[in-house]
Amino acid sequence: MSAPTPGVPAPDHRRLLVTSALPYANGSIHLGHLVEYIQTDVWVRFQRMRGHEVHYVGADDTHGTPVMLRAESEGITPEALVDRVWLEHRRDFDDFRVGFDHYHSTHSPDNRALCEDIYRRLDAAGLIDRRPVEQFYDPVRGIFLPDRYIRGRCPRCAAPDQYGDSCESCGATYAPTDLVEPYSTLTGATPERRSSEHHFFRLSDPRCEAFLREFTQSEGRLQAEAANKMREWLGEAGEPKLADWDISRDAPYFGFEIPGSEGRKFFYVWLDAPVGYFASFLAHAAHRAAAGQPIETDAFLRPGGDTELVHFIGKDILYFHALFWPAMLRYSGYRTPTRIHAHGFLTVNGEKMSKSRGTFITARSYLDQGLDPHWLRYYYAAKLNATLEDIDLNLDDFCARVNSDLVGKYVNIASRCAGFLGKRFEGRLAALPGDGPEAALLAVMREAGESIARHYDAREFGRAMREVMQLADLANQYVDREKPWELARAQGTDERLQVVCTAAVEGFRLLTLYLKPVLPGLAAEVESFLGIAPLEWAHLSQPLPAGHPIRPYRHLMQRIDPRQIEALVNANKDTLKSAPATPAGGASAPAAAANPAPAGAVQPAAPTVIGIEDFARIDLRIARIAEAHAVEGADRLVRLVLDLGAEQRTVFAGIKSAYAPESLVGRLTVMVANLAPRKMKFGMSEGMVLAASGEGPGIFLLSPDAGAQPGMKVK
Ligand code: MSP
Ligand code: ZN
Repeated sequence: MSAPTPGVPAPDHRRLLVTSALPYANGSIHLGHLVEYIQTDVWVRFQRMRGHEVHYVGADDTHGTPVMLRAESEGITPEALVDRVWLEHRRDFDDFRVGFDHYHSTHSPDNRALCEDIYRRLDAAGLIDRRPVEQFYDPVRGIFLPDRYIRGRCPRCAAPDQYGDSCESCGATYAPTDLVEPYSTLTGATPERRSSEHHFFRLSDPRCEAFLREFTQSEGRLQAEAANKMREWLGEAGEPKLADWDISRDAPYFGFEIPGSEGRKFFYVWLDAPVGYFASFLAHAAHRAAAGQPIETDAFLRPGGDTELVHFIGKDILYFHALFWPAMLRYSGYRTPTRIHAHGFLTVNGEKMSKSRGTFITARSYLDQGLDPHWLRYYYAAKLNATLEDIDLNLDDFCARVNSDLVGKYVNIASRCAGFLGKRFEGRLAALPGDGPEAALLAVMREAGESIARHYDAREFGRAMREVMQLADLANQYVDREKPWELARAQGTDERLQVVCTAAVEGFRLLTLYLKPVLPGLAAEVESFLGIAPLEWAHLSQPLPAGHPIRPYRHLMQRIDPRQIEALVNANKDTLKSAPATPAGGASAPAAAANPAPAGAVQPAAPTVIGIEDFARIDLRIARIAEAHAVEGADRLVRLVLDLGAEQRTVFAGIKSAYAPESLVGRLTVMVANLAPRKMKFGMSEGMVLAASGEGPGIFLLSPDAGAQPGMKVK
């Protein structure tokens, strides 16, 4: 068999290896990331329901300078940091029902072995070059500086504090070495130019160029817009623009050592990251083999098989996935990707996610507010299409849409009819007539299946959701016309009542089947309510039989209360939040003073040096703990009433594991008095108390020396 040609209808039985991009291990999963993981997961679940063989793998992307610096600033090893974040990410994905078959880490021996093998093969193919590069070096920290850690004055307009690649003030673009009065954002030191030998992947080699031209331009491999971008990047045939790719970094670096470099050179994180897809797949295959269900791994990883390799990514990392990665694979004896699906970026209320507006929302904070992950999955599905356009999470629209579509239309059908079956017919279904309004309704609902499947397969989820909701409208109109509540009151209409309710329940079953890739947990509840096996696409044409018993109906989904959304935004407005996984965690957890790194994945680690004016913005005060109470429903929290002399503040602190509330009353401590108030599930938190904590157990509240008075400023 030969590999399926992109653009040609898919075979009956497909064998798919599907990936989502590997999130960086230096930050939390946020709602932007989830666009991608939910999109991939929906597609994977759909393909499974169609009966295809699908392997969905992911991993944390662990290497690089930001992880190294962040670990350093937390006083832990990079290994400890990536282990902790791995658990955090894993839990976020589980809770959002992103169903990876295996979730790996790029910092693993199997990934190292694959990287070394690929590197050696590229070298043997004559595609690795070594030559000196001049770069900025931070003499205080003793490291070469990635561009984003260098700032200075714009060489064109002299605006201060501009990044190393472009000026936010006048828009000029330049190299970091062009900056006037450059400084290292890590230490403030003036960087020195130093030369060191780097390893390059020779993308400018005519073989690579020819391969990439063919690869990126073949029908169906990339979205049209992406293929156009690649054409621009590749340049005209004969005058190619592709530069060689620098794949090495100097020590110290958290990554894999380049073989033979004696500890001085490491693979650039972007070399080992995509290889993590394969390492994860092989680990998955090893688990499966151990369970007696081996996978034919060569068919997925070597050229010439009939399997498909499908990558879901954000549009920001197209370059790496459509050029570097396929070229690496092609010249090291591996198969190349069948398709690369890029999506746009998430905006919230029409703007880039912002910490100050509270729209930089982490996955965890969404769940902590008690919001249902299915709501977000549905909203994203309703908004997603196959283009690279950005998608907007409008928070008002989110409430309105979920409430009207999922609760008002979909769940409504079951809640209007299932009760009658339970109360009047012992939950038994009627035989449906071969013609008449119910047969007509169900025929239309069933026939839509092929078109809905096409939309799912083409990643036009928005279209699929629109079609499903139109069918839900039809089903509701049917119920409106047949009025089961009137049939239930009238005499001699029992039989008709059972038929109408049966038709509605069958319609509900079909809608559940169509929505199952998006709403897996809800679908499982419906399957149990209907007493049926897990729904697959083939069950479309297998209606519930006459006499089949269903269970008593329990309400399947709540409405969103807009106040929950308000609380979510407030919970994310904090600017001095502690790191995502400090032991006490959560809202008013003790400030991890040793950890200034922000939670955002794409943020560089915060500079370890700040000016006195930054420090002066924090209003630290002596406070007397006037009251301390346990918080019902929150294991870690203590509600403190703090006396500041002139006023009292209520603060929730994550210190329950270390202190019995009553033992705290009367003692002095230090609080951040100008932290924006945050609405929490249990009430408003109006500040934060300071405590120390490390890798091990224990939380240690700060105390001033004797003589300090409530309200005194700490500076
Ligand atoms: N570590 C790299 C990927 C390596 S893949 C071999 C990376 N990590 S990331 O954490 O920054 O992003 C992971 C994925 O989430 C990327 O595909 C990225 O495009 C996507 N998104 C990150 N922020 C996003 C939004 N705000 N909106 C939509 N997708 C976003 O890139
Ligand atoms: Zn400028």
